[in-house]
Amino acid sequence: MEKILTINGKKVSFDKEKNLLEVIRKAGIELPTFCYHSELSTYGACRLCLVNVEKRGLVPACSINPGRSRYGCCNKQQ
Ligand code: FES
Repeated sequence: MEKILTINGKKVSFDKEKNLLEVIRKAGIELPTFCYHSELSTYGACRLCLVNVEKRGLVPACSINPGRSRYGCCNKQQ
């Protein structure tokens, strides 16, 4: 089932993306990563991919399930 997230004011639909990072990249936003690799299990330690999610604060985009991100996101690190 397709869902929608608001990223920097832009509505982005997603379905099978496994983390918020993939949805952000789908929106055309380059978000740097260091410890993340799409073919490996998520480690989430370097925090290079931190984004500001509404009502949650700064979270690592590579470790967040987009289906559970009920709120709009994202402004790159502050
Ligand atoms: S890329 Fe390292 S925490 Fe996300």
